[in-house]
Amino acid sequence: MSLRLPALLAGALALAACTGRTPLDAAAAQAPAPAKATSAKATPAFAPPPESAIPDGPYGDMVRQGREIFLHTRRNAPAYVGNGLDCADCHLDAGRLADSAPLWGAYGMYPQYRKKNGHVNSYGERLQGCFMYSMNGKAPPLDDKVIVALETYSYWMAQGAPLGAKLAGAGYPRVPDPARAPDYARGQAVFERDCALCHGADGLGQKAGGRYVFPPLWGPDSFNWGAGMHELDKAAAFIKANMPLGRGGLLSDQEAWDVAMFMDAHERPQDPRYNGDLAATRKAYHDTPMSLYGRRVNGRLLGAQPAVEPGGEP
Ligand code: HEC
Ligand code: HEC
Repeated sequence: MSLRLPALLAGALALAACTGRTPLDAAAAQAPAPAKATSAKATPAFAPPPESAIPDGPYGDMVRQGREIFLHTRRNAPAYVGNGLDCADCHLDAGRLADSAPLWGAYGMYPQYRKKNGHVNSYGERLQGCFMYSMNGKAPPLDDKVIVALETYSYWMAQGAPLGAKLAGAGYPRVPDPARAPDYARGQAVFERDCALCHGADGLGQKAGGRYVFPPLWGPDSFNWGAGMHELDKAAAFIKANMPLGRGGLLSDQEAWDVAMFMDAHERPQDPRYNGDLAATRKAYHDTPMSLYGRRVNGRLLGAQPAVEPGGEP
């Protein structure tokens, strides 16, 4: 992140109650696009094995179980899921798609120190975090079948990949800092034009036969305030590369930031680390301009209330 972006975001938030342009827009024209995203470090290409290569036998059975849990998490690991999402809603093509935080790009990067919890995390612990935050649920014990199956699926998918190397297509590709501060109203226009068709005019997703066919972007069945997707840079990166579904890259960088801000300026389930005090929780876990938690945007104090009921006003 450049030094300019926090200032832009701070400005945007201060002015969030107003509509339209921010004075910071004026600074936009002179901002050269940062070209620092690429480093001299090699990013080897990697292609995961085809699903048809999953072997027979107990090991292959565990790989297949992991895949089923990843695709249909609510159905196959209901004790640990507290919302309407499946892992594959954010890691597309069953965790295989490049630029969609594919499992083959993640597996070989652990154990890894994470600022989020201040210690070295095993891959299993990383998976537990997904359940607590992205799935708004509970962490399965490390030796639980659910974790072992997901680890096995990831290990299988990463076979042959170099250990500890950031592979091309791993994670979500960072979107360059926006020329103009992300803006709620512009984001809303993008949402209505390019997202509402699938995710619903109210953003709460769409169901068929009691199951989500299009996942909710906010509200009680969405990821909670502790999830990576609630951070503007991560949401912008995911959206730019992957949304609208099947048309990744369609949005401009600015549109991706704007719609990420619009999405992440809606209520969602409370951060499970909430300590009873919004400002203190923000300071402890959300002390970054990428998080709107505990901020007031468009008159809404975010993180302060329980999420809206499905069908209610977002
Ligand atoms: C709401 C969207 C969302 C859902 C649902 C979700 N994830 Fe993630 N996941 C993310 C984001 C965003 C990141 C990147 C977070 C970061 O950079 O801190 C991530 C990161 C990861 C990583 C690490 C990737 C890397 O390259 O280091 C793994 C592994 C992972 N998720 C697995 C899972 C599993 C397993 C599930 C289901 C139990 C799951 N995720 C559900 C959004 C999601
Ligand atoms: C054509 C339908 C479609 C459109 C249009 C679309 N999405 Fe999605 N979106 C999906 C589906 C389906 C998934 C789940 C991934 C999958 O099933 O492959 C998803 C997943 C997501 C997720 C992660 C899961 C969650 O609910 O948090 C986010 C965030 C998201 N979309 C945001 C957007 C945004 C922002 C736009 C508009 C720029 C958009 N989508 C447009 C269909 C769509």
